[in-house]
This record gives sequence, C-alpha cells and structure tokens, in this order.
Amino acid sequence: MKINTFEKEIINDKAKGLSDQEIGNKYNINLKQIEKIITKEKGINVTKLNKSKKINNLFPKDFKLENNTVWSFKSRGNWATHNGNYRGNWSPYIPRNVILRYSNENDTVLDYFCGSGTTAVECKLLNRNFIGIDINEKAIELARENLDFQFLFSSNIELKVGDARNLDFIKDNSIDLICAHPPYANIINYTYDNKYDLSHLNINEFLTEIKKIADESYRVLKENKYCAILIGDTRKNKHIVPLGFWLIEKYLEAGFKIKEIVIKRQHNCKTTGFWYKNSIKYNFLLLAHEYLVVFEKTKKKVQYHDKNVSNIFYLIDENIYLESTTVWIFNKEEYINNIISNLVKRYSKNYCIYNNNFHENSDLIIYFYDKNFNSFIKYMEKVKNNSIVAIVCEDIREENNLIYSEPIFIEKELRNNNNFKIKEIVIIAINNYSNNINNNKNNLNINHKYILIYQKVN
Ligand SMILES: C[S@@+](CC[C@H](N)C(=O)[O-])C[C@H]1O[C@@H](n2cnc3c(N)ncnc32)[C@H](O)[C@@H]1O
Repeated sequence: MKINTFEKEIINDKAKGLSDQEIGNKYNINLKQIEKIITKEKGINVTKLNKSKKINNLFPKDFKLENNTVWSFKSRGNWATHNGNYRGNWSPYIPRNVILRYSNENDTVLDYFCGSGTTAVECKLLNRNFIGIDINEKAIELARENLDFQFLFSSNIELKVGDARNLDFIKDNSIDLICAHPPYANIINYTYDNKYDLSHLNINEFLTEIKKIADESYRVLKENKYCAILIGDTRKNKHIVPLGFWLIEKYLEAGFKIKEIVIKRQHNCKTTGFWYKNSIKYNFLLLAHEYLVVFEKTKKKVQYHDKNVSNIFYLIDENIYLESTTVWIFNKEEYINNIISNLVKRYSKNYCIYNNNFHENSDLIIYFYDKNFNSFIKYMEKVKNNSIVAIVCEDIREENNLIYSEPIFIEKELRNNNNFKIKEIVIIAINNYSNNINNNKNNLNINHKYILIYQKVN
C-alpha cells in the first residue's frame, strides 16, 4: 500500500518511539487516524514499531483461577511474550482461565481470531494443542514470533491465514475448546482494506457473519465441550447498543446453551475529571465491562423455574457517590439501597418501585424483575411518556448447571417494542454474594446482576 510524505513522517516518528499523544499533537490528528496510517503501511494495527523480546517470567506471579462471574485484572499480564502491542489483543489472564477451567492437557484448542497469538502462547505454556487462524497474514506472522521461545512441552501448534466463517479444514466434532475474541463491529480496524476482515462491517452485517461462525463453531466442537467468546457493547447517540446480547443470541440460534456469563471489567475507562463530569452532564454511563460468554454444546435443556420477589426494603442515601460507568460494585448488605439511591440521584426523585408502591405518574420506575414478563408489560403500558424504566434482573443457575439469562430474554422481548428504547446496561458486581442453586465446583459463583435501563417512548 503506497503512503504519502505526510504519512511517512508519522511512521518515522513512531519508529523513533514518539507516543501516540505526541504524534497527535504534532500533526493534529487523532488516534484512529494514526492507527489507520500504521495499518496501511505495516499491514497490522500495532502500538509500537520497534520490538523488544525480553522474557522475564514464563508464568504469571500468584495466579489464582477465577471462581466468581466478575473478573477484574489490575494489570493486563506480561509474562512470556505477552504484551499490549497488538491493538485490541486480550489479556492473557482470560484465555489462561478459560483453558485451565474448560480443557485438559493434550486437548485441542481453537482460536479463529488468533491475532497476535495470546491464546496460542497460553496453549503452549499449558500443554494444549492449538489451531489458530486469522484473516491477516501479518497477525499470523506476529503470532509466530510470539510463539518463538523455548519451552518444556512441545504441543502441536498450527497457525493459518484463513476466515473464521469457513472452517472446512477442521472435521466435525473434533475440537475440545474454542476460545476466541472477535473484532467488534467497526470499533478497532485490524486491516487497512481487507474485505474479509469483519472489523470493517456495520453491526447488522457483523451479526449476520457471526451467525456463520457460530454454526461452524457448533459443527467442529465435540459434544459437551465449551466455546468461550469475549464481546463488548458499543454506544450510539448516548444510547447503549447491546452488541454483546445480540452476539449471544446468534450462538444460541446455532444450538449452543449458556454455561456461564462472566463480566470482564475494563480498567482503561476514565472515572474522574472530564469524563466523570460529562457522564453526569449528558446523562450516560462510560462502558466499563465486556462479556465473556461460555457456551456449551449440549443436549441439556434450559428450564426456567419460578421466582418470587418479595417486597423490597430500602433507604435512600441522598449523598451517595454517583456512579459514572456501567459497572457498579457494592457490598452484599447495601446493594439494594445503593442501586435505588444511585438510580434516584441520576434519573429522578419522582420515582416508584414496582411491588412496593407502583405509581404510573412517576418519572422513574424501578422494577425488580419477577419472571412474569406479561405482567411487566401490562404495568409498563400505563407508564407515562419519557419516564425511565430500570429493570433489575439476573442470570439464574439451573439445576442442570446451565444459565437462564433474564436480561437477554427481556432485551430480546423489548427490542422490537416501539415503546421502549434501551439506554444503558448496568452491571451490579456484589462482593461476597452467591445466588447459586447448587455448589458444583465446575460452576462459577454468580456475583453480578444487571439493570436494564429503558426510556418509555409513546
Ligand atoms: C480482537 S482481535 C483478536 C486478538 C487476539 N485475541 C490477541 O490477543 O491478539 C480480532 C482478530 O480477528 C481477525 N479477523 C477479522 N476478520 C476475520 C475473519 N473473517 N476471520 C478470521 N479472523 C478475522 C483480526 O485480524 C484480528 O486479529
């Protein structure tokens, strides 16, 4: 790809080690434009042009397997050859946890969005065989470089330039675990103009193609095995676009069931100063989470059991710290008070709580979801225009260990209802909380809930 003189100067400065911010200030361009120039010239979207390959540790220090559904890694992890140089690569803590929990040594793991090879490196370190494919040959080259270190085990690692939508070279029912991180519709571009790169698609096109990948995943995975996918939401005109739920739906349509929904907290999001003020001024929350969904290829069925919501007792704290991101972390004893206080402070003091004191003239209706969707809709029809409806709901562990996800069900039911426009998906992460129906050690302890925030539009 030919670059012009202006672009060449930027590449030279980047190679000298100037930061993106310094380049941005010098040439008056934004990060997206810098990424585009690098991807055009180098064929790959990387943060640094000069490589260092010093390995300090082959393993993470003090590693502990995650046991809850909320995962939060303070640092991204830099053992072995891991680093953040490939834009949008995932923290090695994620594939490490997935591989250890859902596969055994000598199993075959597939990552069809291999990128810089984070999953591949973890497979090498954990003695799993690996098949990695990526649409970008430069990414596959980088993955090969990252795998180029001496190690005790000699697992079988196969890297290939290819398209995740077509896994013809893999036999039916032959893979033990899928562990992958798709490009999210048009957020980071991984190639300059590769027409098969899904990161250039808009949301609807992206979801259509994801369905093909879900079908291929179902075909190649062995029965009773797992497929873990990391996906985030995006935002448009101050409203959330629930891309995560929509992707989950495609995998469900392909035949998968949900084994776990993990909330992966993101720490790069700013919660002070400019962004904090804007989140309040323009009344939106900063995205601070992604979903790691573990699907199971199983014949087991999800059967949703009855649920009773009793009256809610709460106290409003007018001085509560106003949350500015999509993840609210509360203690077990206080989470109901804190949810209600935060919603009231952000949206309206003219509020009511369904079940306790329903009042159709309220500007804010807080609804603790009780399974009965029809009665929910019946009440909501009476609610006045423009009011905010905040639905508190959860993922429920079934007796057969699968997950029934209320928020996914509700979002799907309301998606085509013109009276409700989704505004936010908030995650409530609760310290020391458990709502598991059984104590099977293969299950994660569910310690999060959701608030789906809608605006009523008549
Ligand atoms: C989010 S990144 C994966 C990063 C990877 N987990 C890592 O740690 O480096 C998504 C990857 O999907 C690749 N990709 C985009 N479209 C693809 C397609 N149709 N088939 C296979 N890979 C594709 C991109 O080149 C990019 O490397």
